[in-house]
Amino acid sequence: MTVTRYHWALVVLHWLLGFMILLGLVMGTFSLETMPNSQPEKLDSLRGHMINGLAVGALMVLRLVMRSLTQRPAPLTTGLAWTSKLGQRVHLVIYVVVFLMVASGLALALQSGLPSILFGESAQPLPNTFDGFWVRAVHAIAAKLLMALIVLHVGAALWHHYVLRDGLLRRMSLGPRE
Ligand code: HEM
Ligand code: HEM
Repeated sequence: MTVTRYHWALVVLHWLLGFMILLGLVMGTFSLETMPNSQPEKLDSLRGHMINGLAVGALMVLRLVMRSLTQRPAPLTTGLAWTSKLGQRVHLVIYVVVFLMVASGLALALQSGLPSILFGESAQPLPNTFDGFWVRAVHAIAAKLLMALIVLHVGAALWHHYVLRDGLLRRMSLGPRE
């Protein structure tokens, strides 16, 4: 028997993670990157960003477990054959880049001593800037790549749903699966 929708847990995780990932990208770009480390509000922004980012990592692992345990709809046959293949590749690359964001963010936090500065007893100030830590460049470049992939992914989803009219969005929505 083939199903027509993703399992409800994957649907909920898709939209929750979509929101949390966008929050990390928007706050990282417009709040963290532009705020000097000397500004006192930076501490709270960094705390929020780290907690959100680590929660993304944990929920992504849960998502992969659920993905391997549940039945998924058959790959799309609408559109050109090469675009269907591309779609599946883009999904895989999104998974990899999200994990790269979490790993590079965590590495940057550890390199710059953030756990004890933000969550410990230490009265140490933040480093003057994060620029000296090489892994920050990895985090920043991966963020730009992820933004581009999301634009491609959302554009393709809307194209399928509204131009090809194949009801693609229904696959990622709650409802009966048969
Ligand atoms: C930060 C934003 C987003 C991320 C990171 C993301 C990521 C993903 C990933 C990794 C998959 C593959 C699911 C799997 O097979 O395990 C997927 C599927 C899907 N996404 Fe997104 N997504 C995002 C936003 C959106 C938005 C805004 C839409 C709608 C306009 C959307 C529509 C879909 C649909 C319809 C599928 C199922 C595609 C299929 O069945 O072939 N996504 N998404
Ligand atoms: C999906 C998860 C994440 C996303 C989307 C994300 C996104 C971003 C973005 C867009 C920036 C600005 C980069 C720049 O251009 O300089 C940033 C900076 C940063 N992120 Fe993340 N991040 C994530 C996870 C994490 C995690 C898990 C941690 C730590 C545990 C972390 C720690 C940091 C730090 C320390 C900065 C530097 C702040 C600054 O430059 O002032 N991130 N992040």
